[in-house]
Amino acid sequence: MPFSPRVFSGIQPSGDLHLGNYLGAIRRFVPLQQTHDCIYCVVDMHAITVWQEPEDLRRRTYEVAAAYIAAGLDPSRSIIFNQSQVLQHAELGWIFNCVARVGWMSRMTQFKDKAGKNTENVSLGLFAYPSLMAADILLYKATHVPVGEDQKQHLELTRDIAQKFNHDYRKRIRALGLDETFFPLTEPVIAGPATRVMSLRDGAKKMSKSDTSDMSIIYMTDDADTIAKKVRKATTDAEPLPSEVAGLAGRAEASNLVGIYAALSDSSKEQVLREFGGQGFGTFKPALAELAVAVLSPIAGEMRRLVGDPAELDRILRDGAERARALAATTMREVRDIVGFVG
Ligand code: TRP
Repeated sequence: MPFSPRVFSGIQPSGDLHLGNYLGAIRRFVPLQQTHDCIYCVVDMHAITVWQEPEDLRRRTYEVAAAYIAAGLDPSRSIIFNQSQVLQHAELGWIFNCVARVGWMSRMTQFKDKAGKNTENVSLGLFAYPSLMAADILLYKATHVPVGEDQKQHLELTRDIAQKFNHDYRKRIRALGLDETFFPLTEPVIAGPATRVMSLRDGAKKMSKSDTSDMSIIYMTDDADTIAKKVRKATTDAEPLPSEVAGLAGRAEASNLVGIYAALSDSSKEQVLREFGGQGFGTFKPALAELAVAVLSPIAGEMRRLVGDPAELDRILRDGAERARALAATTMREVRDIVGFVG
């Protein structure tokens, strides 16, 4: 039986949302609602793999939910909820901890980057994080996961876990009359001109909340003046823009800004260069700033309104969690049976 197309994705409420979160994830979630059943999660359980002040965690959980809705996710059409309200994430996460191998986890580059030299002292949760991520996805038997480039390896691991589970339990799965591909082999959806938004100060570094310079990051809630200033001060070279994408090779900063413009205007780098090829940054930067403000300002305004009314967000998240729980319960009934748990 083929799996019906279903999308799952999640964002951690662990930092202020920025253009990388918006263009690499949230903006791309919106059109998928037309073609797929979609589940969009605020992954608060992932966030606490590194220390979060409880008050900040709550505020940011609301903020991510508000960003989802302000950007165009429709809570009556898609399921929008925070992970910790659906206990089955933890339950399946544990089972996957017993499927995944320590060697697999040690090869995760995100873990190595985050842990650095400090591997003895990071939380056990940070190490096991990809198996919780696999649980998020496979709990709903999601077939497609829109993510940024940096999550590709975690999606490969999700497939490895699905495959090993399907294989290790194949006899029992067959005996129970279930489909032998019990968990699907989920595909990442990494597409578009800005799957990797880079720092405005250094085209070799990802735009990231851990950056020490605020000038390198455009936050979703920055006001118009701040956005304009950050774009104006973005690092670039001195050449005019090329007319062809090939001309962006070796020009990481220029390529990043062109990609951001393309993503914000739902076009491609080719199209942007057709318009701006031959022009200098003195022309391109103000155009980019204007576009960024036009796209982000209404979203920021709506985010402010929503965050100011947590009762409405609570209602949305509770309703989403209830619908998620119903799907999760079906999967877990089968999984418990497959694994041999009594009761
Ligand atoms: N690991 C993702 C990130 O850091 C967040 C995440 C958690 C996620 N669970 C997920 C993304 C499931 C997609 C699907 O960005």
